[in-house]
Amino acid sequence: MTPWISIKDLKAHIGERVEIRGWLRNKRTGGKISFLQLRDGTGFVQGVLEKSTIDEELYSKVKKLKIESSLIIRGTVKEDTRSTIGVEISIDEVEIIHANETDYPISNKEHGIDFLMEHRHLWLRSQRQFHILKVRNEIIKAMREFYLNRDFKLIDTPIFTGSIGESAGNTFSMEYFDYGDVYLAQTGQLYLEAACMAQGKVFNLGPTFRAEKSKTRRHLIEFWMNEAEVAYYTHEDNMKLQEDLVEYIVQKVIERAEENLIALGRDIDKLKNVKAPFPRITYTDAIKLLQEKGYDIKWGDDLGAEHETVLSSQQDKPLIVEKYPKDIKAFYMQPDPENPDVVLCDDMLAPEGYGEIVGASERIWEKDVLIERLKEKDLPIEDYQWYIDLREFGSVPHSGFGIGVERTVAWICGLNHIREAIPFARTLYRVYP
Ligand code: 4AD
Ligand code: MG
Repeated sequence: MTPWISIKDLKAHIGERVEIRGWLRNKRTGGKISFLQLRDGTGFVQGVLEKSTIDEELYSKVKKLKIESSLIIRGTVKEDTRSTIGVEISIDEVEIIHANETDYPISNKEHGIDFLMEHRHLWLRSQRQFHILKVRNEIIKAMREFYLNRDFKLIDTPIFTGSIGESAGNTFSMEYFDYGDVYLAQTGQLYLEAACMAQGKVFNLGPTFRAEKSKTRRHLIEFWMNEAEVAYYTHEDNMKLQEDLVEYIVQKVIERAEENLIALGRDIDKLKNVKAPFPRITYTDAIKLLQEKGYDIKWGDDLGAEHETVLSSQQDKPLIVEKYPKDIKAFYMQPDPENPDVVLCDDMLAPEGYGEIVGASERIWEKDVLIERLKEKDLPIEDYQWYIDLREFGSVPHSGFGIGVERTVAWICGLNHIREAIPFARTLYRVYP
């Protein structure tokens, strides 16, 4: 029997007869010879079919096949230096699995983004989307590996929650049986804080939800976040961990998905420079720098996308901005003992204008300070009793962060919009398909 081989592995089978199970991506047909562009979910290859090798009726059926019909072919792997994968297939057998009756809606010509998003279920099959999702897969794999290599424990945090994790402004709420209102998690952080008191070093990876009314290139309504939390870690330890993680992800992706990055047109040299330590600046100095550059911004204002771009475009490495004013940050952040107007937090900004990829802080670990902050932020204390309990029993300083998966994918792939960084994006105006 002819072995079923993945396109990505063909190079190891030069001279052998193999079977490929896939789809017809494109074709160029003629009276005597046809060129079939095939894909199988692992790669892309050209198959050459000469009329003389197969049945005449079958040849004419193949010639008429519409794009994205499914087929199994068998043939001999031939070295071909013009091909990006170094081989092509000389086909001698074709089995048509499903001949599409209608024309495939997505062609090689330009389509508008609304049309493509409307056809996301099919758009996923295109070469560019294939490469992006391959890189996403490598990013997530590298994240998991990084933590497991360092003996962090995976803690799966809940999606339904009664305690607002970030801020009341952009929650999705719903009725939960007799309990009343609950929210879709904006973060799993509070639960990781509980878990790190049991397991020391913990992480999660899962979907999070924000009812963001802003329509930007960087915001999704449903996005994936990886969070880490470590008992006894300080703000300084926390920043070091983030740098190590981001370096690890980027270097592993270059190692394992270089060809995908090249296919996406990514400048890999820029990514190669992403090695710890990363430059750091305090929020206060960042404001001064922006003012010197003529921006109309004052101490206490949050940094906008434009400001982040200016700050982070000075070098190829991500930039860590630390110690923001407490009024523009979440309730759980530990005040800086040297200046209680700021908190021991940091945001990591990706280079090249990709914006904030990591949000982080040391956490308040004293009960009274926490209760005071919850009140200042108008959050209902009764919903946080369990979280306050953590400051009642063996409380310790601890720190953690969250890294947005899609922001990281957008940056590493060099995408100009976050909607292509996730298989099925949920944005302000789209939940279909
Ligand atoms: O900065 P954020 O809001 O931090 C937290 O949620 C903390 N509880 C994390 C923690 O300390 N455990 O979100 C973290 C990251 C951001 O830096 C960004 O990369 C991403 O999540 N993010 C979004 N990505 C896409 N769309 C959105 N609407 C996002 N909001 C945040
Ligand atoms: Mg943030």
